[in-house]
Amino acid sequence: MDYIEIEGGVQLDGHVRVSGAKNAALPIMASLLLTTGETRLHNVPRVRDVVTFGQVLQALGAKICLDGSELIIDTTSIDRFEAPYDLVKTMRGSFLVLGPLLARYGRARVSLPGGCAIGPRPVNLHLKGLQALGARLELTQGYVHAYADQLHGATIAFPFPTVTGTENIMMAAVLAKGMTIIDNAACEPEVVDLAEALMRMGARVTGAGSPHMVIEGVPRLEPAAHDIIPDRIEAGTFLVAGAMTGGDVTIDNCRPAHLGVLLKHLRATGAAVEVRDDSVRVIGSERASPINLVTAPYPGFPTDMQAQMMALLTRANGRSVISETVFENRYMHAAELSRMGADIHLEGADAIVMGVPHLHGAPVMATDLRASAGLVLAGLAAQGITTVSRVYHLDRGYEQIETKLAALGAKIRRLP
Ligand code: EPU
Repeated sequence: MDYIEIEGGVQLDGHVRVSGAKNAALPIMASLLLTTGETRLHNVPRVRDVVTFGQVLQALGAKICLDGSELIIDTTSIDRFEAPYDLVKTMRGSFLVLGPLLARYGRARVSLPGGCAIGPRPVNLHLKGLQALGARLELTQGYVHAYADQLHGATIAFPFPTVTGTENIMMAAVLAKGMTIIDNAACEPEVVDLAEALMRMGARVTGAGSPHMVIEGVPRLEPAAHDIIPDRIEAGTFLVAGAMTGGDVTIDNCRPAHLGVLLKHLRATGAAVEVRDDSVRVIGSERASPINLVTAPYPGFPTDMQAQMMALLTRANGRSVISETVFENRYMHAAELSRMGADIHLEGADAIVMGVPHLHGAPVMATDLRASAGLVLAGLAAQGITTVSRVYHLDRGYEQIETKLAALGAKIRRLP
């Protein structure tokens, strides 16, 4: 297993380009199951989750070729309708094949994802929504078996927004007969990107990006090329890296509108933030000011940036409170940060972070994707050497993070 070694204390400086958004690429790859033929997706991140999702599609009979950041997917020969446990357990995003398989082929057998390192993460809302569209579901031996001769439109009101739940229902509803309304839909930019990809294929979707989405079913969809949006979480991670090392970092190819609340919080910590059309520059302050933040569905503060922001606040000049409202158990990085000298107390959904002047390097262990990113950032700002093990978590969602950070001046390397 690889690990990452960081010698902290270097101010990051320079420009960096982010890859395409993992959480947009996955549902858009799934949506190609709604069409028959070959499609090219551009700006696809070369990350482990994309490779795993490619294996899920291959298991269904698709042909996949990842060439640089271009992904060619041929769905002409889909002849199996099962996402097996072995793949779903490694990546719960695989559950995204359920909606499109059901809509296009009238059946699907998909392993239930089970819990994960950040919480129990049930899929009950995906299933309820599909039932409302007319799916018959059986849960046996850890699998969902879903059948439908023809899905029909319905009104689905989520009690709270779910990102992949909204995406699964959208992909089922685009081929359903009649109109589907999704109330309390997730508004994340990745949901909007999926809607845009579906509309290129001929789907009729309005209201994506708002909590009220309307989908008018069509009889068929055609393959269509699509450019994946830049990854706002990767962009945010590099911005926090720049801010917490007191550096000067510019993200060259992002969508600043997707980063609104993060930029607001970075400014509140004392960082200078300059926004242009498709780039953002951050200049870190000597020592951050403490802030309070609450994670929430978009446009709120992204839970996927909580660990990175906690890393920054460990060295703030005072007491910060972080409230995690999206996932039950997303503070696994707190204990590892404490091993580096951070002062963090957990009280239910809150983390109270008392800033300390310095973190010190230590061996730490990654527990999930974003927790790993938080630990890498802490290592960049700490005095001495930090080693982050279980780097495979990082590889799930960041493309060559150590190479990109090294290009900004970080003393970082991957070792076997
Ligand atoms: N929830 C339910 N029932 C459901 C679905 C969700 O109770 O049927 C709950 C979840 O347990 C959670 C809340 O609803 O408490 C919101 O979860 P959501 O469904 O929105 O999360 P997700 O779709 O499983 C996606 C991203 C996550 C990201 C969350 C929140 C993908 C592939 N994954 O997960 O990304 O944290 O939305 O923004 O899009 C990551 O990239 O590191 C990552 C974990």
